[in-house]
Amino acid sequence: MSFITSHNDTDHFSKEICEVDSLLIPKTMNEVFKNIYQRRAVRKYKDKPVERATIETLIDAGRMAPSAINIQPWKFYILTKKEDIRAFSKEIAKASAKGFLKSGIKNIVKTASSALHLSHGIDFFKGQDPIFHGAPLVIFISSPKDNEWSGLDIGMCAQNMMLAAKSLGIDSCPVGLGKFVEQTKIFPKLHIPKAERVNISLIFGYGDEKPAIHERIKNNAFYL
Ligand SMILES: Cc1cc2nc3c(=O)[nH]c(=O)nc-3n(C[C@H](O)[C@H](O)[C@H](O)COP(=O)(O)O)c2cc1C
Repeated sequence: MSFITSHNDTDHFSKEICEVDSLLIPKTMNEVFKNIYQRRAVRKYKDKPVERATIETLIDAGRMAPSAINIQPWKFYILTKKEDIRAFSKEIAKASAKGFLKSGIKNIVKTASSALHLSHGIDFFKGQDPIFHGAPLVIFISSPKDNEWSGLDIGMCAQNMMLAAKSLGIDSCPVGLGKFVEQTKIFPKLHIPKAERVNISLIFGYGDEKPAIHERIKNNAFYL
């Protein structure tokens, strides 16, 4: 991270802007901005648990998200035991590999990288924990199948949780592949009612890597 001076006097934050890789951000950014810019998808974790009270705090941050007509459709299913996480990870890896195979060999890479933004590539059978990357905390978030807005609500809830985590020094990664848990034989262990769908899983923990920022696409805002 380096600081440079902007010559744009109309910059409404400050003349000083801060360069984080190729991103220009206000030097005077507040804590919210810092969290937004510093959160990364982290896929390597220290062998250190997240305390129960902290987990509650993260879930409370999720509960504070907006939701369509204030339905608050989220439910949280939490794994903290290493052996459980690994067992789910392996089963989900098998189920997602099958899912991708069904969509056709040629489409595997396309489907994975475009639909799930898996820029890091996939190796479904690598290591003890191919899906949850050794994180000590996995949270599946579900919502009612008959709520057409709940996908958006869950997205907002998930981002609240990941930003709140970052503010506490905890890293995270959204794991879309977690939704394949519904197609595993150990899915019943989560006790998720039939009327709910798993929208996503999130992993949390103390990161053991500092991934580079992916450059953001900038030509996608249109003033009319
Ligand atoms: C809906 C969604 C699903 C994702 N699924 C996975 C996943 O299954 N496994 C994974 O390692 N990363 C997953 N990611 C993380 C993305 O790859 C990551 O957010 C993206 O590459 C941008 O990197 P950044 O979060 O560090 O900015 C997912 C992200 C989103 C938003």
